[in-house]
Amino acid sequence: MRTPFIAANWKMHKTVGETEDFIRQFLPLVKGVKDVEILVAPTYTSLAAASKLLQGTNVKLGAQNLFWEDKGAYTGEISAPMLVDIGCSHVIIGHSERRQYFGETEETVNKRISAARKAGLEVIFCVGEVIEQREAGQTNEVLSGQLSGGLKGHDLQGITIAYEPVWAIGTGKTATPEMANETQTFIRNWLKGQYGSDADGVRIQYGGSVKPDNVKDLMAQPEIDGALVGGASLQADSFSKLVLYNG
Ligand code: PGA
Repeated sequence: MRTPFIAANWKMHKTVGETEDFIRQFLPLVKGVKDVEILVAPTYTSLAAASKLLQGTNVKLGAQNLFWEDKGAYTGEISAPMLVDIGCSHVIIGHSERRQYFGETEETVNKRISAARKAGLEVIFCVGEVIEQREAGQTNEVLSGQLSGGLKGHDLQGITIAYEPVWAIGTGKTATPEMANETQTFIRNWLKGQYGSDADGVRIQYGGSVKPDNVKDLMAQPEIDGALVGGASLQADSFSKLVLYNG
């Protein structure tokens, strides 16, 4: 049985003060929730403040990216050991916005995953097709390329996959639950083909315009084990409704 995993990707939103306000409002709303794993991923600048407030709670802390070297002359970058030091247990890697705007490739995704796992961080590894690829019937091919590139040389320990169709991110266009489940079934089968029964324990999140009014239907699908949420995770009230999707 895979524990549902609901994660907030705040992208480039929230100052330190706004992060603290969110956490103070959010914690009481999800107090006592044990059957759902909960994560927030603020910007780097808010990690320290968030870490302090989340200590000893049922909400985990993640970063949105990292650089693969541990330390050195890499101006502007943050390493995996630094994220561990500040209290992160997770990191998001390969988000489509990083692929689109910051030149992320399968090779750099793979290096970041290696660095994260070496430092003991769990990884939310994002994959997904753009609309032209879906319309051209290339979705499965794109996904298997991203999966094999990113996971090269790795086992599945500490890995969650986030399937995020790029055309559904921040657009209000969700993949239908059936469509998302069908693609996630492809991902599961691809993982099984490479890793055998280890693939059964891997959580596959869906991401792309997940909201309080569609989360239940998405989570009812057998291959959707959680959600990676942008817009609807920015308010404590709305994110808590996602965590409490089951009633
Ligand atoms: P969204 O973003 O929920 O705003 O569509 C999801 C994501 O990019 O992780």
